[in-house]
Amino acid sequence: MCLKVVLLGYGAIGKSLHGALARHPRRVHVLGVLDRTAGVPSAVSPTIKPGFLADADADADADERPPALTLAEALESADLIVECASPAAVRALGPAIIASGTDMLIASLGALVDDTLRASVMETGPGRAYLSTGAIGGLDLIRASAGTIDSMELHTRKLPGALLHAGLPQDLRAKITAATTLGEPQTVFAGTVAHAVELFPSNINVAAALGLAAGDFGFVKISITADPTATLTSHSIHVQGSGGTYRFGIENAPDPQNPATSALTARAMASGILRLAGAGPHFI
Ligand SMILES: NC(=O)c1ccc[n+]([C@@H]2O[C@H](COP(=O)([O-])OP(=O)(O)OC[C@H]3O[C@@H](n4cnc5c(N)ncnc54)[C@H](O)[C@@H]3O)[C@@H](O)[C@H]2O)c1
Repeated sequence: MCLKVVLLGYGAIGKSLHGALARHPRRVHVLGVLDRTAGVPSAVSPTIKPGFLADADADADADERPPALTLAEALESADLIVECASPAAVRALGPAIIASGTDMLIASLGALVDDTLRASVMETGPGRAYLSTGAIGGLDLIRASAGTIDSMELHTRKLPGALLHAGLPQDLRAKITAATTLGEPQTVFAGTVAHAVELFPSNINVAAALGLAAGDFGFVKISITADPTATLTSHSIHVQGSGGTYRFGIENAPDPQNPATSALTARAMASGILRLAGAGPHFI
């Protein structure tokens, strides 16, 4: 089976993902991209290194950007549309993709904090929505524990520059930049998943992933630290419930093309797509 894939978004994740999938020509064919900047030639080639799952006879490379497609062309031909663009892209295109009967793999999980959007993307069909594990692991265990969880905490630590974006309120921007000026870590946010996603829409998808896995965003308490000394992005997760206590410590290298994104995210998406294309081993 060769899964026909369209990439929605061709930035740091999209390019790495394209490079990874090009190593599996018998399993996956990338038909093209849907991206706001798709007409602009790419200066950067995908850089992902060969993985342990590469097809033995893989000879394809991904030096060229796949062709730009319209949404109608993508829906006509794709088995799977892979969102690695933004929460806004999930809002703008998610419901139409699912309603067309095309499956969708989503990285920008923060968009799904919105109840109405989540219902139309995840519960309406006929297309299926798959959620990427993205920058963390342990979501299978948290999903299996849904209904037994009493509380969950996520402490995220990133470089200040990885938290900055154009839509930040001035006081929060000042707190984040103060970490750099002082040369010391500063806790810049403590609160709910919904509030974290509102303030950091593209930076804290991990928080939304935990809430989605637990089946309740209300369990999850988030804190975010801007750390000018951080070389890795870290997520410390603590889950407490009647079924047990779980701790996950994840330290990820940032993607060289976008420090706000962990390089693991593109690899996790490639691994998920290969699984959908039939390549095991299948952990379920
Ligand atoms: N689940 C996770 O753990 C996780 C981790 C990192 C990033 N993400 C999500 O993945 C997204 C992409 O990350 P990235 O590092 O590749 O970002 P990036 O900024 O490098 O690239 C995003 C690309 O998507 C395009 N794009 C954005 N909105 C669009 C829209 N509405 N329609 C069409 N194209 C659009 C942009 O033009 C850009 O080329 C982030 O915004 C974030 O929400 C999720």
